[in-house]
Amino acid sequence: MPWHAALQCGFIGTGTIAAAVVRALCGAPGIKAKIILSPRNRQTAEQLAAEFSRVRVAQSNQAVIDASDVVFIALRRQIVQAELQALQFRTGQTLVSVVPTIARAQIAAWCRCPIDAVCRAVPLPFIAAHQGATPLFPANALLEKLLAQTGGVVVAHDEAQFDAFMLGGSMMGVYFRFARACADWLHGQGLDAAQASGYVAQLFANLARAAQQGGAAPDFVALQDEYSTAGGTNEMVAQGFAALGGVQALHQALNHALKTTPDSKNQ
Ligand SMILES: NC(=O)c1ccc[n+]([C@@H]2O[C@H](COP(=O)([O-])OP(=O)(O)OC[C@H]3O[C@@H](n4cnc5c(N)ncnc54)[C@H](OP(=O)(O)O)[C@@H]3O)[C@@H](O)[C@H]2O)c1
Repeated sequence: MPWHAALQCGFIGTGTIAAAVVRALCGAPGIKAKIILSPRNRQTAEQLAAEFSRVRVAQSNQAVIDASDVVFIALRRQIVQAELQALQFRTGQTLVSVVPTIARAQIAAWCRCPIDAVCRAVPLPFIAAHQGATPLFPANALLEKLLAQTGGVVVAHDEAQFDAFMLGGSMMGVYFRFARACADWLHGQGLDAAQASGYVAQLFANLARAAQQGGAAPDFVALQDEYSTAGGTNEMVAQGFAALGGVQALHQALNHALKTTPDSKNQ
C-alpha cells in the first residue's frame, strides 16, 4: 500500500484555489489520499465530489477537521480569524494555510496549536494541471512528497523569503492588467477590441514560451536584448516605460503589498 493511501486531506473553504489543489491531488497517479471538503462553496464541493470518487463533502468545517490528517485552510483572509477560533484542532494534525498575508504564528494562535503544526503554501491555479512549483514554508516531508507530484515544490528558507514568493504569485492580476492596457491601446488605435485582445494574448504566450526555452533561470536582460532591435520600436517602448516610471510603479505596488503581510520577518 502506498505510504499515503490512508491519508485524509481536508479543505476549509472550497473555492478556486481549493478546487485547483483537489484536482492536482486527484490527478497525480501516485497520490491516493482521501479528500474531505467543507460544504462551502456547495456547488464547487459537490462538483468535485461528482468528479472524483475519493472526494466527499462534510457536513461542517469541524467535521472536515475531525476527519483529516492534513487540513488546508483556503478561506479568504477577512473571515479566517473568526472561523479558525471557532474550530477545534487536534494534536498531530498538519495545517496548511494558503492565506497569503497571515503569519504562521498567527494561524497557530487562532487554531490554538503549536506553530510547528502550521505550514504556509502558495498554490496557484496552474497546480490543477501540475504546472509550476508551489512555494512552501517550512520544510515538511509529507507536504513535499505531495507537492512534488503536483508540479513541484520550492521550500523557502524563512518566512520572509516565503512572503517574497507569495508576492511573486501576486503578479497574476497585474499581468492581466498590463495585457489589458496593451490591448486597450491597440483598440484605441483602431483595432477591433477582440482582435486587439487576441493579438496581445498570442504575443504574450509566445514570449512566455521563449522565456521557458531559457531553462529554469531565464536571463531576462538577454531576452529583452534579443527581442529588441537596436534603435527599433521594442527598445523605444521599453526605455520609455522605464523612464516614465513603469518599473518603479510595479516595484512600489509590490513593496506596498509586502507591507500588508505579517511581520513574519520577526519570527
Ligand atoms: N485564487 C488564487 O489564485 C489564490 C492563490 C493563492 C492563494 N489564494 C488564497 O486562497 C484563499 C482562498 O482563495 P480563493 O481564490 O479560493 O477564494 P474563493 O474562490 O472565494 O474561495 C473561498 C471559499 O471560502 C468559502 N467560505 C466562505 N466562508 C466560509 C466558511 N465560514 N467556512 C468554509 N468556507 C467558507 C466560500 O464559499 P461561498 O462561495 O459560499 O462564500 C468560497 O468558496 C484566499 O486567502 C486567497 O488569497 C488564492
